[in-house]
Amino acid sequence: MRIVILGAKGMLGGALQKEFIRLGEVTALDSEEIDIIDEDMVRKTIFGLKPNLVINAAAYTNVDGAENNRAVALAVNADGVGNVARAVKDLGAILIHYSTDYVFAGTNQKGYREDDLPGPAVNCYGETKLAGERLLKEISPNFYLIRTAWLYGVGGRNFVDTMIKLGEKIIRAEEGKREIRVVNDQWGSPTYTVDLAEATRKIVEDKLALGIYHLVNEGVTNWSSLAEEIFNSLKWGVSVIPVPSTESSRPAKRPTWSVLLNEKGPQLRSWQNALADYLGAGMMGNRQADSGSIV
Ligand SMILES: NC(=O)c1ccc[n+]([C@@H]2O[C@H](COP(=O)([O-])OP(=O)(O)OC[C@H]3O[C@@H](n4cnc5c(N)ncnc54)[C@H](OP(=O)(O)O)[C@@H]3O)[C@@H](O)[C@H]2O)c1
Repeated sequence: MRIVILGAKGMLGGALQKEFIRLGEVTALDSEEIDIIDEDMVRKTIFGLKPNLVINAAAYTNVDGAENNRAVALAVNADGVGNVARAVKDLGAILIHYSTDYVFAGTNQKGYREDDLPGPAVNCYGETKLAGERLLKEISPNFYLIRTAWLYGVGGRNFVDTMIKLGEKIIRAEEGKREIRVVNDQWGSPTYTVDLAEATRKIVEDKLALGIYHLVNEGVTNWSSLAEEIFNSLKWGVSVIPVPSTESSRPAKRPTWSVLLNEKGPQLRSWQNALADYLGAGMMGNRQADSGSIV
């Protein structure tokens, strides 16, 4: 199988490369090699490589940034997806595309199923991702649309790494209380890129039906409990103080109930087990600074 991965240097793109090498010949492309906003470039590149499968992990992912850069976010997350989908369709290949819990309003306490109608999206980033989903569906039925949430892993900005950086800073300061205040009234499922990439590979390998999938690590938590789990595992003596989201002012609105229900895809292990693996994997040196946009 010939596989092209777009957004290859992103947090998920890196994990996908490692996973899909097991299924065939992988060409990994990032923004330096291909700009998905450029329709001609997308077409030429994809037709030149003639893949059977294209995996689009390229996206504008700065959630707060999208509030003031709607046009850029829309160009990548909607027009760019359309460009990729058209080229993949005309080539007769399959497209895997990723989307987010933020395409939902985040008000349903029971969680969101794959066949629930998305929208209204909770924020501008979510709106641009929803526009991408709609374009994808219009262009061709030959897709796997995989929604995920609260992603973390090596090589990207994410909440887990942000907590670790903050913890390190507090410890280095050597004064004041070792405390971090984190919101406790927003709920979701932290998801490890390695597990998401593996489940995506299983979908392809097992030739599951095309369509929409919700892939997240099993279990539901809130940001404050996630932070607590991180610091309990690290044993740094950092306490987490749960606070309401009214204490946190961020440009983009965050959903209260952002639980994606996986009713048809491969099941991922519990978020606690996945997190333990990530924290234990000796990746501390790889982490990137401040991830302001994620929570
Ligand atoms: N992160 C999360 O918490 C989260 C949650 C739910 C869903 N998702 C979805 O999961 C997918 C992967 O997210 P991620 O966190 O891995 O994202 P990421 O780390 O931000 O990576 C995105 C990649 O896309 C590239 N890219 C941006 N604009 C591009 C363009 N015009 N043409 C080609 N490449 C471009 C970026 O390159 P540059 O760095 O050079 O711009 C980057 O390498 C996305 O669809 C995202 O919406 C993420």
